[in-house]
Amino acid sequence: MSQAKKVTGIHVKGIGKYVPEMVATNEDFAKIVDTSDEWITQRTGIKTRHITNGEPTYYLGAKAAKAAIADAGISPEDIDLIITATVTPDFFTPSTACLIQREIGAVGSMAIDINCACTGFDYGIDMARRYLLAEDGVDTVLLIAAEELSKFTDYTDRSSCILFGDGSAAFVLERKKDTLYSSYLGADGTGAKFLVSRAMRSENAFRTNKEEFDMDMPATKAHYFTQDGKEVYKFATRTLPIAVEKACEKAGIAPEDLDAIVPHQANVRIIETAAKNLGVSMDKMVVYIDRYGNTSSASIPIAFCDAVAEGRIRRGDKVCLVGFGGGLTYAGIVFEY
Ligand code: UT7
Repeated sequence: MSQAKKVTGIHVKGIGKYVPEMVATNEDFAKIVDTSDEWITQRTGIKTRHITNGEPTYYLGAKAAKAAIADAGISPEDIDLIITATVTPDFFTPSTACLIQREIGAVGSMAIDINCACTGFDYGIDMARRYLLAEDGVDTVLLIAAEELSKFTDYTDRSSCILFGDGSAAFVLERKKDTLYSSYLGADGTGAKFLVSRAMRSENAFRTNKEEFDMDMPATKAHYFTQDGKEVYKFATRTLPIAVEKACEKAGIAPEDLDAIVPHQANVRIIETAAKNLGVSMDKMVVYIDRYGNTSSASIPIAFCDAVAEGRIRRGDKVCLVGFGGGLTYAGIVFEY
């Protein structure tokens, strides 16, 4: 039996999620691209995904934030810092965190966006904990992951459009002394070209040089998302078990000591392979990809919220949130709920 290390970690005071009302089924996709419910279900595990009917990212984020604030029993003025993880902001500026702050009335808080793709919620927890650790005026953090992936989805590309959904989830975090906590975060920019959504190229008034400086990045249709599914699949199946193992090792526990593992929900086959490689049963893996598809940074906290609502994760449980995605990035966070 391993000995868990006690450190200053996080207390998850409240949680909340929000997904748009509109739902697209696999059959709906079969009407717009050459695909079938059978292919999507067998290759990905996805059955439905929620898609916005025009609601922007910050709107989804504010809805989840309000739910988490209510669950925590605090008022918006108690929040010292808002961190929003998103790869689908509505504006380059203002940040999504500032727009959410305005929506929820968290007067006086700091507000910052982070972009770590599907790993954003894990990176956000680690960042929140480091602010809390400093004991320098930040005592309550609102961490939100909000994604409207449908706005960068190419609905003519059957290999990617069937994967994505929209949604948001949020945690209210406080400092907790003498508790279980560890993080293992990493990035591998050599794999940057495998998951891409392009921003703007410079067309400034003085430009004469038409040479592109990102020759190793794929050509894309405007800002639409493109990925090398096979490369990402290999990366995910390799890094997911490593991130769990390393985070557990730092926390002084073994993966089998965890009550639940909440992985990024990209493909059920990736999760099944990771469970096998970790030697843990699929009962420990929290999987709701059938309902929501891949919602990037929001997928881990949305799955966490559903697991709590259904009693699969309870107070005091040892949990690992494990992500992988664009960047490439990977991360594991171990904590006690
Ligand atoms: O959060 C972002 C992280 N992203 C990921 O984790 C994605 C990781 N990758 C994957 O999950 C899988 O690679 C995909 C689900 C994207 C694709 O599954 P796959 O088993 O790797 O399929 P494939 O790309 O090898 O394609 C197999 C066949 C191809 O046809 P041919 O060439 O064998 O005739 C594709 O054209 O399936 C075809 N195909 C489809 N068929 C029906 C691709 N997409 C579809 C589709 N419906 N939607």
